[in-house]
Amino acid sequence: ARVWRGLIEEYRDRLPVTGATPVVTLLEGGTPLLPALRVSKLTGCEVFLKVEGANPTGSFKDRGMTLAISKAAEEGAKAVICASTGNTSASAAAYAVRAGMTCAVLVPQGKIAMGKLAQALVHGARLLQVDGNFDDCLELARKLAVDYPVALVNSVNKYRLQGQKTAAFEIVDAFGDAPDVHCLPVGNAGNISAYWMGYQEYAGDGLATRTPRMFGFQASGAAPFVRGGPVAKPQTIATAIRIGNPASWDLATAARDDSGGLIDSVTDRQILAAYRLLARDEGVFVEPASAASVAGLLQSAERGLLEPGSRVVCTVTGNGLKDPDWAISGAPAPTTVKVDAHAAASALGLA
Ligand code: F0G
Repeated sequence: ARVWRGLIEEYRDRLPVTGATPVVTLLEGGTPLLPALRVSKLTGCEVFLKVEGANPTGSFKDRGMTLAISKAAEEGAKAVICASTGNTSASAAAYAVRAGMTCAVLVPQGKIAMGKLAQALVHGARLLQVDGNFDDCLELARKLAVDYPVALVNSVNKYRLQGQKTAAFEIVDAFGDAPDVHCLPVGNAGNISAYWMGYQEYAGDGLATRTPRMFGFQASGAAPFVRGGPVAKPQTIATAIRIGNPASWDLATAARDDSGGLIDSVTDRQILAAYRLLARDEGVFVEPASAASVAGLLQSAERGLLEPGSRVVCTVTGNGLKDPDWAISGAPAPTTVKVDAHAAASALGLA
């Protein structure tokens, strides 16, 4: 049987590693590329979900973190730092444990999901809640990394995007070519940039005949790309992408323009509708931010932006268990019954 070795070993010749790089891995990558039957029917496209919540810490961040932490270890770092809306900190905390490093994380106070907070804490990270938003946290983390002996592992670390580009490789490896369109949520804009790098690299080396159009989607209250400039007070229930001043601005606008794609916005209402649709009709539990890719695809199809029959991949970036509040608040309260088969049956409408 072929065993997945983690993305550094799987794509070693396409990554900036040498024999001297200690590979710090939780065997990330190799995530499902799942046909989305209901979304396909609704859009008239052939839609697949790249289920990144299946990574070891439950988000796509693990792809970037395996490389960033491996390179930090190679360079002799003893400590890493990041700003985060939750997933980066969860991933950094876990990979730092594997590397025997300490990890410091800066998160916006009260604006990160409970599951993600739990991950950073259980892995022993030093966690500071900052009285500000993600953009403030990133500014602070950058300053600390300049003035103190800590390596910054946000996506402004060049190794992060190198690791994250492997998701595009996996998709082309699975299909034998690139899809027509690739949809994903956009926050700090690293991931859309990384996928675009990966698709271009494969096409450049003749491993794909084409590149997809890149479709990025922001939450309407946190949509600097749509607005054309930073948003001072970003607002959305999708806390993972509550970002007003994205670090990878130029790379993401290039991905959009060079691919013939778009970066548009979807409302929180659309995000939650897609979130419920994925859970109830596809069997895939994602966190709200992840549903922005599917919400955006549904909106694009409605607007007639997609050729019927197009092959579309939506990256769903994070696992729903990280942020269960929206699953619970949208559901009816459970019925309590006695230990009694007849009572249970009648409560279930069976009797
Ligand atoms: N989806 C999820 C679940 C995320 O956690 C993030 C970013 C994104 C989408 C957007 O990706 O920033 O590359 O455009 N989360 C970061 C964090 C900011 O700190 O965990 P992006």
